[in-house]
This record gives sequence, structure tokens and C-alpha cells, in this order.
Amino acid sequence: SVAEAAMSTSARSTVNTLGVVGGGQMGMGITVTAATQGKKKVICVDSNAAALQKSLENSKRILASQVTKGKITAQEKEEAIARIVTTQDLNSLKDVDFVIEAVPEDPFFFICLNIHLFYGWIKMTINNKIQKNEKVKKSIFEQVSKITQNDVILASNTSSIPITRIASWVSEDRRDKVCGMHFMNPVPVMQLVEIIPGLQTSNDTKAKVIALAEQMGKTTSVSRDDAGFIANRILMPYINEAVFVLQEGIATKEDIDKTMKLGTNVPMGPLTLADFIGLDTCLFIQQTLYESTKDSKYKPAPLLQRYVEAGWLGRKTGRGFYNYE
Ligand code: CAA
Repeated sequence: SVAEAAMSTSARSTVNTLGVVGGGQMGMGITVTAATQGKKKVICVDSNAAALQKSLENSKRILASQVTKGKITAQEKEEAIARIVTTQDLNSLKDVDFVIEAVPEDPFFFICLNIHLFYGWIKMTINNKIQKNEKVKKSIFEQVSKITQNDVILASNTSSIPITRIASWVSEDRRDKVCGMHFMNPVPVMQLVEIIPGLQTSNDTKAKVIALAEQMGKTTSVSRDDAGFIANRILMPYINEAVFVLQEGIATKEDIDKTMKLGTNVPMGPLTLADFIGLDTCLFIQQTLYESTKDSKYKPAPLLQRYVEAGWLGRKTGRGFYNYE
């Protein structure tokens, strides 16, 4: 619109160097995909040097196996690795053309969330912890918006914090350049990226976020800025219902997964997928849906809560609905 054009300056168009904040599974997945598919230089920042190194080594192993399988050449692998810089210093993002934040939404704080249904005072404590967790992201957005140039887009891979709230963490004249860019795990394999414009995101920014996703070889869908966006709004109640079916003894976990995998042609049954995503992450997103809508249809299954309390978080801990040792 004319009003929008008058208010907002256009975002930088050409992305040669991408900044990624967060070097975990998602951040490193985004980094590697941008370096291989998008042929971008990538600066990946994480305060935990050891974790960053570990996920980079992991990615190198996956690239090496792609060479073995003949999917990419050894030279393409080396060129991709050479495009990646890892660092602990946020100031390294000074000259990047585009930033994607992919800092984990620490589900640890949500493990006890269900308790608040019974004890109001615990709810207060937990809400404080949620706020503390958001504070980390807030601080990152505050810093990165100052470190980078004003025309640089700041995208977030969040799956649960409203984009409009994230935009409120940067100065008013920058909010048109904040947008949700939700990748799916494993990032190098999954075709889709959900694009979530916040209330203040400009059409120019949205178009440029879509363009970058496409340069990274992805297909996009657009969602309004509402809890769970599209993917998790639909996926999480589906996973939750599978847990209810298990909890109620309607079928074994194997039969639940077999039915959905072979009966609806998905690569993994819902309980296997929950283990893959992480049961704490599933619970966290379900709790976000429930908290923001207060609709009982999103209430997490008690069995899922018990598994998380037991520390059975899925593949990453060696045990979830299935054993992985
Ligand atoms: N990085 C790069 N490549 C990977 C990878 C990773 N982390 N994991 C698997 N791959 C590759 C493999 O190397 C293999 O490549 P080739 O075809 O070139 O050989 C290919 O993916 C298939 O892998 P596998 O043969 O090992 O196993 P599979 O066929 O069972 O596929 C899978 C594994 C891709 C994970 C598949 O099971 C799948 O698509 N599962 C569903 C995943 C899903 O739904 N993800 C979305 C979760 S929801 C989400 O992410 C949003 C949120 O906010 C929670």
C-alpha cells in the first residue's frame, strides 16, 4: 500500500552472506543448506563453542556420506564447508545481508508446566522461567538489530513465539523487516519452509524471505501469525491424539504407527515422529497451543507429560515411546 511504502524502506535484496544465530540441530541445518543449496557464505554464531563444533562435525559427516553416495562431488563438499564460518561472537554479523535466528526454545523450562494446573503459585514461577527463556531471544534480537545494517532482514525460526512479539524487541523502524521463517527438521531434507509475516512485516520483506528460502531449494507456504502456524497447529494435535490412543489402550504403539504410516503414506508413524522431534519439544508446542487458546482440544495427553517427566524424551535420550540404544 502507499502508506506502507511511505513508512518502510526496502530490505536488502541480494544475500551473499547469511548470518545464522544458533548452531544446534536447526541452526546448523539451516547453515549447511544455505552453504550447499544456496551457495551462500554463512556465519553461524553460537555461544557454546563445543556444541557448535560438534554439530559442524556432524554436518561434515553427512556431507561426506553424500559424496560416498554420489549425490555431491568431493569438490562441492569442500566448497560448501569453506563457505561456513563458525564463531561465538555476535559482532561477526556486522556485514551480513540477512539474519536467521534459530536459538533453541529451551523446552527444559516447560517440563513442569502441567503442574500449574494444580498449583497457581508454581504457575507464577514457571511463567517467570518462560519469560527468562524469552529474554535470551529478546537480548539476541536487541543486539543483532543494532549490530547489523538497517536494511537487513531479521528472520526467526521460532515455532512458538509470535513474530509480532519478536518484532517488538527491535526498534520501531526495523519491525517491517522481522519475519518468521520456520524450517522443518531435518532441514537439509525437508522441502518446506513456513513463512510467517507479523502484523508489521512489509510485503517487501515477506517477498525477500520467500526468495531466500527458494534460493535454498525450498518451497514455501504462508501462515498468519497465530499459535502453531500451519504445521504444528495440525501436527501436534495429531501426535497428541496418537498418545491418547496409546494411553487408552486402544492399540499398541507399533499398531498405531503401522496404521498411520502404511494407511496414510507418511514416512513415520506419529509416535516415531514424536520421538524424532523430541517429546519435550512436542509437549512444549502443545502447551503453547493450549496456553494461547485455552481450548481443551489442545490439552497435552497425560502420558506424554509423564514420559517427559521421566526424562524419556525420544531419540536424543535413547528412549521415548521406543528404545534407541
Ligand atoms: N541431515 C541431512 N540429511 C539427512 C538427515 C540430516 N539430519 N537425516 C536424514 N538425511 C537424509 C539421509 O542421508 C538420506 O539421504 P539419501 O536419500 O540421499 O540417501 C535421506 O535423508 C533419507 O534418510 P534415511 O534413508 O536415513 O531414512 P528415512 O528414509 O527414514 O528418512 C527422514 C529419514 C527424512 C527423517 C524421514 O523419515 C522423514 O521425512 N520423517 C518425517 C520428518 C518430519 O516430519 N519432520 C518434520 C517434523 S516437525 C518440525 O520439524 C516442525 C517443528 O517445529 C517441530
